[in-house]
Amino acid sequence: MKVENLVRKVYPNLTPYISQLPDLPVDELKQVLGTDKVYKLSFNENPLGPSRRAIEAMQKSLSQLNLYPCSSGKAVIQRIAEKEGVHPRSIILSNGADDMILLTAQTFLEPDDEVIIPKVTFVQYLAAAHLMGARPVISPMKEDLGIDLAGILERITPKTKLIFLCNPNNPTGTVIPSGELEAFLNAIPGHVLVVIDEAYHEYADGEEYVSSVEFVKQKKNVFVIRTFSKVYSLAAARIGYGIGQTEVVDAISRVRPPFNVNGVAQAGALASLDDSEHVAESKRVNNVGKQLLYDLFEELGMPYLRSFTNFVYVDTGKDSQVLFERLAKQGIIVRTLTGYGLPTSLRVSIGHQEEMEAFRLAFQQVLRA
Ligand SMILES: Cc1ncc(COP(=O)(O)O)c(C=O)c1O
Repeated sequence: MKVENLVRKVYPNLTPYISQLPDLPVDELKQVLGTDKVYKLSFNENPLGPSRRAIEAMQKSLSQLNLYPCSSGKAVIQRIAEKEGVHPRSIILSNGADDMILLTAQTFLEPDDEVIIPKVTFVQYLAAAHLMGARPVISPMKEDLGIDLAGILERITPKTKLIFLCNPNNPTGTVIPSGELEAFLNAIPGHVLVVIDEAYHEYADGEEYVSSVEFVKQKKNVFVIRTFSKVYSLAAARIGYGIGQTEVVDAISRVRPPFNVNGVAQAGALASLDDSEHVAESKRVNNVGKQLLYDLFEELGMPYLRSFTNFVYVDTGKDSQVLFERLAKQGIIVRTLTGYGLPTSLRVSIGHQEEMEAFRLAFQQVLRA
């Protein structure tokens, strides 16, 4: 049997997600690196871990593992609806934000449809477009690595179906200024859906940032994606959600597998939404770590971007792969951005103060080497 003859035509464009440095779980990292301490600053995880209330609710839910969970996740949807001030019918749950990106692509994209994606952004939009045989149209960034909305508008054609935006953006940590975003959405033609990934929404404070749930309420063509993996720290449980016009949500719900979010994750998410203290403490710790990184990069004279997330983008001016390898030898794992054409830049996730201190010492040392 020749599997090449069985797979879909898009197969050559697909690559498996291979778990390797820097993507291994901490225990495997320790083994591979031969270090007893590992600081994993490559996945934008919340160092605090989940809310205590979430853990208790999840433990309790284990006694029901024999039962199928609520297929739509009604209770979680209801709670999100109250929190966001939207109708429950405009919300749909997914197995993490990654799953929602995929479901959106599967719902809307036909082969040869065009999908506009900024050059420096989260990789899964491109993967989802390729999976559906759609044509990715890559839009360059502004000089300051901001998302060039004018450039995106210029690239819209009658074939454009989706535009993916990440706000705040991964891996730069920056936001699209609220006024610019609103003007952009006003200029979007009716045949285009703008998908706005707000995975880092809860970390984004400040007047420049506006959640696009506001634009959903104004009936604009936007579909917002969120996750419980970041500030709520439920990355291993796999739960995310989307908020959009009811027609969009109804369309995606035809594609969604019936039990895509497990009961343990639903229990954890529901409890997390009620624990505002955990969110506040997570943000407090994040702000301390962020300032520490800012101070360090300033001291080193390295340009960095002001972050609205739990990671910081920095241009080291040096070969980032060399820095990455030297840091890894000391058990510190960061993310290089060479794949984006940024060979001297790093993305450093914000951890506990202790982790940031370890990063600071190791970084200073590898720079001296
Ligand atoms: C922008 C963005 N979207 C989506 C995801 C995926 O999140 P999830 O764990 O919910 O699949 C990530 C994870 O890092 C992300 O950075």
